[in-house]
Amino acid sequence: MESTLDQYTDKAEHYSKLKERDWVRVVERPTVLRALGDLRNLTCMDMACGSGYYARQMKLLGAAEVIGVDYSPQMIELARSLDDLSITYLTQDCERLEELGMPEYFDVVFGGWMIPYIPSVERVSRFAQNLRSVVKPGGRTVQLFGNENRFSSGNVVDLMDAMGQRFEANGHVPRDGDPYKVIIGATGDSPGVELINHYYTHPTIKKCFMEAGFGECKFHSIVLQAKTTAEREKYREFVEDPLITVFEAKNV
Ligand SMILES: C[S@@+](CC[C@H](N)C(=O)[O-])C[C@H]1O[C@@H](n2cnc3c(N)ncnc32)[C@H](O)[C@@H]1O
Repeated sequence: MESTLDQYTDKAEHYSKLKERDWVRVVERPTVLRALGDLRNLTCMDMACGSGYYARQMKLLGAAEVIGVDYSPQMIELARSLDDLSITYLTQDCERLEELGMPEYFDVVFGGWMIPYIPSVERVSRFAQNLRSVVKPGGRTVQLFGNENRFSSGNVVDLMDAMGQRFEANGHVPRDGDPYKVIIGATGDSPGVELINHYYTHPTIKKCFMEAGFGECKFHSIVLQAKTTAEREKYREFVEDPLITVFEAKNV
């Protein structure tokens, strides 16, 4: 199996286009932005920043400083090429954030689709501890990842076809850490991009963060920002049973 890092080599440009999909505009982005809230004068990190989509959003929400971090040099190169907001980008494994040498530096650390790349509960626990070490006391983290309900039946093939995204589980009810395949952007002409992610239940994520010393944990409700009634109707079911979860925890 490819290493997680290899999954992004040569796929950076393709991945960046995924942020242009409708459901990101209508559901993912508004839900994340509401959870991030007012970032004026705050120091922020976009961890596993990819093309820097949310790093730029954080700057637009008023952040004084945004540092985007990703371990893929291709993603960092792409993010830098798209930046016109003076964001700093660093190449670093976000499971080893302490190596940045920036203890208690950030008011807000956002992680978009980072947790699904961590392959075991033990590593999610270590990740949460590491993450806490770079968050100021009183600061917080917002994490975006897959909704456990979408995967819990073990039968998720074609679930998201309408959104240009498919998931293939192993045909059984998944356990924490189980891998599943994500196929993004497949069309008649292109097989799309395949990625391996890992399943976690919401209570498991919350437990890892609580044990790492975070508190005031919460799961945010979904925001639907449809432009038309037709669009609202199109996304109604999607919102009732959302693909995404947005989790927040405070360094109490
Ligand atoms: C699905 S993309 C999400 C990008 C961006 N956060 C977003 O929401 O658009 C996942 C990103 O996580 C990065 N990534 C995964 N595991 C990582 C790790 N341990 N350290 C740093 N980056 C990581 C990959 O390189 C990739 O850019």
